[in-house]
Amino acid sequence: MSKIHAAITAVHGYVPDYVLTNHELETMVDTNDEWITTRTGIKERRILKGEGLGTSDMAVPAVEGLLKKRGIGADEIELIIFCTSTPDYVFPATANILADKIGAKNAWGYDLQATCSGFLFGLATGAQFIESGKHKKVLVVGGDKMSSIINYKDRATCIIFGDGCGAVLLEPNDEGNGIIDSILRSDGSGLPFLNQQAGGSVKPATHETIDANEHYVYQEGKSVFKFAVTNMAEVAAEIMERNNLGPDDIAWLVPHQANKRIIDATAIRTGVSADKVIINIERYGNTTNGTLPLCLWEWEDKFKKGDNLILAAFGGGFTWGSIYLKWAY
Ligand code: UT7
Repeated sequence: MSKIHAAITAVHGYVPDYVLTNHELETMVDTNDEWITTRTGIKERRILKGEGLGTSDMAVPAVEGLLKKRGIGADEIELIIFCTSTPDYVFPATANILADKIGAKNAWGYDLQATCSGFLFGLATGAQFIESGKHKKVLVVGGDKMSSIINYKDRATCIIFGDGCGAVLLEPNDEGNGIIDSILRSDGSGLPFLNQQAGGSVKPATHETIDANEHYVYQEGKSVFKFAVTNMAEVAAEIMERNNLGPDDIAWLVPHQANKRIIDATAIRTGVSADKVIINIERYGNTTNGTLPLCLWEWEDKFKKGDNLILAAFGGGFTWGSIYLKWAY
């Protein structure tokens, strides 16, 4: 009997309507379109506006679109893994909230926090439940409302991040397609370089933490850049090498959209030509857990059954990794 792989059988995404352009940011902080474009590749990002809306509100249309495409009901979902760094609440899990909103009444679920690598960690984790035979339909959602934790007076971070969400369905595949290999890494010594200081158990939110802006993302961009550019490129190259894949064997490189220069470095290290590298950072910025599923969603029409895809990401923590999968439809 051939091995069961966990294959993506549907993908959908959602980005909010509001477009925050570089030009609008010029009116908010001391920056300019030319600096942002040349240093990051970003021209605009989407922002979820509206009172009382959280990350799950972007997941709902993403998942509903996915279910419609696949032609199944929400009650058929068995497990929801919600990869996010901006959950609706500290608790309960956003996976539960999403299950309730979409009517996935037979699913259990949990949130997964691995910053920008979260969707990769979620895919690898979800795949285990399929490969073991425990579940047949696992929903992996990746999304963030980054605008909820960004200080729009801090030019070092507010130019980078945006809001968005994507989702994929994992199902068993016995044709040799699906998730073939993964390399996932964590290094907790990265804590000082990219974090949100207050609001956790070490430093619960107080008037003082709010006054000190410690409920916002803090990033030492240059240090993170150095780690990201090396580790994301190396791990993508490593997964290709250990699966005997050369650049010509790769149909699509799907990199985390943090900075165009990090994406370019990954393409150069792996040897994958520019026309096969998926990039939408200019329109969405860094949506953290949303970048990879949004890329898959937007390029879905171009994928062919059996295509070799290499996904790679790097994020705060630090976390990083790569997944090799064969597209299943
Ligand atoms: O996805 C999670 C992981 N995160 C990442 O991968 C992000 C990695 N880091 C980066 O993408 C880049 O480091 C940034 C885009 C955040 C910053 O780019 P950089 O080329 O590393 O710039 P820098 O921080 O070294 O700053 C260079 C100069 C500084 O001025 P001086 O000291 O040279 O006079 C900054 O003050 O640019 C200045 N600067 C800005 N100028 C205009 C910093 N931010 C801005 C800005 N607009 N928004």
